[in-house]
Amino acid sequence: MNKSFKRYTITSALPYANGPLHIGHLAGCYVPSDIYARFLRSQGKDVLYVCGSDEHGVAITIKARKEGKTPQEVVDHFHGLMKKSFEEFGISFDHYSRTSAPIHHETAQGFFKDLYEKGEFLEQSTEQYYDEEAGQFLADRYIEGTCPKCGFENAYGDQCEKCGSSLSPTELINPRSKLSGSKPVLKETKHWFLDLARYSDFLKKWILEEHGNDWKNNVLGQCRSWLEAGEGLQARSMTRDMDWGIKVPLPDAEGKVLYVWFDAPIGYISSTKEWAAENGKDWEPYWKDEDTQLVHFIGKDNIVFHCIIFPAILKTHGDYILPDNVPANEFLNLEGDKISTSRNWAVWLHEYLEEFPGKQDVLRYVLTANAPETKDNDFTWKDFQSRNNSELVAIYGNFVNRAVVLTHKYYQGVIPLRGALTAYDEEVLAALAEFPEKIASSIERFRFREALGLMMDLARLGNKYLADTEPWKTIKTDEKRTETILNIALNIAANLAIVSEPFLPFTAAKLYELFGMSESKWELAGNSELLSPGKVIGKAELLFEKIEDETVEKQVQKLLDAKKMNEDANAPVAPMKDIITYDDFAKLDMRVVTVLEAEKMPKSKKLIKLKVDTGLGHRTVLSGVAEHFEPEFLVGKQVTMLINLAPRKMMGIESEGMILMAEDKDGKLKLLVPHEGTASGSTIS
Ligand code: MF3
Ligand code: ZN
Repeated sequence: MNKSFKRYTITSALPYANGPLHIGHLAGCYVPSDIYARFLRSQGKDVLYVCGSDEHGVAITIKARKEGKTPQEVVDHFHGLMKKSFEEFGISFDHYSRTSAPIHHETAQGFFKDLYEKGEFLEQSTEQYYDEEAGQFLADRYIEGTCPKCGFENAYGDQCEKCGSSLSPTELINPRSKLSGSKPVLKETKHWFLDLARYSDFLKKWILEEHGNDWKNNVLGQCRSWLEAGEGLQARSMTRDMDWGIKVPLPDAEGKVLYVWFDAPIGYISSTKEWAAENGKDWEPYWKDEDTQLVHFIGKDNIVFHCIIFPAILKTHGDYILPDNVPANEFLNLEGDKISTSRNWAVWLHEYLEEFPGKQDVLRYVLTANAPETKDNDFTWKDFQSRNNSELVAIYGNFVNRAVVLTHKYYQGVIPLRGALTAYDEEVLAALAEFPEKIASSIERFRFREALGLMMDLARLGNKYLADTEPWKTIKTDEKRTETILNIALNIAANLAIVSEPFLPFTAAKLYELFGMSESKWELAGNSELLSPGKVIGKAELLFEKIEDETVEKQVQKLLDAKKMNEDANAPVAPMKDIITYDDFAKLDMRVVTVLEAEKMPKSKKLIKLKVDTGLGHRTVLSGVAEHFEPEFLVGKQVTMLINLAPRKMMGIESEGMILMAEDKDGKLKLLVPHEGTASGSTIS
């Protein structure tokens, strides 16, 4: 870091409250931001780490529609779930807010008004798609149609997921409304646009010149392509025609809300205000003081909003600082396929915790070791298993465990005195002393994989030290030497606790407890006399345990099952038959009947003979359901029956009607059972 800061404001992208969190979320921005925040805190820095739920926008209303709930119900549910998952994984936000909070509505409206009064918006009436059946303008994601670039039939109004092109709704071929399925019409509507071209020079200078050397290449690359595109930056509407969201604070803006990407980043500021109010602090220095380092952790799909649009808004407002860095990650895939909430191709955090209780650090470790820092990466369960078994168990856990177990075995857990050092000891201690700075330098440059690798190298150093010095042999010949060896090994382990705390906070906490260390202080790391001889350490506790093949195979199977289920659910059902008239329908006499007796027809695989009470008397019916139901299951059930079907003789018995069944596309049968307490003989129409 070439500049030293007085305080740090760390943000990580506000997740949409429309689904649970998965490993892609953690890997994309929450684990890296947490590492950074924990690292700075352990250096005694003044850190504010904020986040919250993103509760507006079409992502939420579409989900609500799908589930038959109100948007408020949806966000309440997922806000709670996400907050809990973050806590459980040790994501150490100082504050986790939500964009439905009144303080946020107020803050976002304040920003809008400020820009409005400064004359920053272009007011423009444009033609937008409108659903006449639903009586509503259609935001981008409410329109689907054929992509003009690649022909994909289910492209969204703003983007084609097949070829990745960004689109505008009017470019779609055969547009259709997701609300009613009808063809939308173009209708005039007024909106407030931010003329991004005005900020182009400032943005070019600030990003490409001032940060051209310290921002990540993937981030600079995207910024360049926005800033240097042929047609330059385009004006973007900061309002939408919707009823869910933050009302546009102008008199002539009935039915308009702020664009979710206008309000959401302001959520970082609202979250800070809320934190300050609850903790008796002043929020302003964290956003306005030049001595503050502001860092936005995000995924790559958020780059334009955090590097172009939000800074333009902050800059125009005036008083605010701009981000010092925006270390965006690329995407994490899962077993070779894009993570998808709707396709259920994900490892959900709440399910992981149920299946791997207490193993938060393992996931944190794997997601950092394999973080998509410079390119998209793939999470596989095999890799998860092997990193656990051959790194956390075999190196980290093994080293700490040996040092602790031997200390108990030879010295009843008392930290032994250090005697004369050999040249080899000196060499190891010199190497130890260099680790904290190297790790710090990687973290400060947002190279968390590299930092984690170094942390593991320290564990390797400890492991090798024990393997080379062999205290289990020296104990037989040289008591003093053994004391020195274990003293050094324990001190390496104590150092390991400090430098691994940002990555593996749960494990570090166990080690602090074990060694009776009060807290993690980065400045202590590198010191080889952290532990006072004569003090008693705690009992060895298994830090990591081996993960078996069956365990990960089960996880892979679970994914495949989910995929199959999803494909089944999306497979088409039987097509509709030809239209009939009401008179055709009225000829059918369908009734609720009660099954009195049921028995398998001898010599038939399919038929069951039923006696039913139709309300008009008892009837005998043959039904081809023997492969689907046991006769006993049917007795006493109320079902539905077509009673005026011409009788038909089968296997010498006359069947006087037909029991109605639901048949799915795979040919599975289900009974149609009436509401409880329906009288036999009730007619169906
Ligand atoms: N909800 C957005 C997403 O999940 C991220 C919003 S980041 C914020 O992609 F800055 F707008 F808050
Ligand atoms: Zn396309």
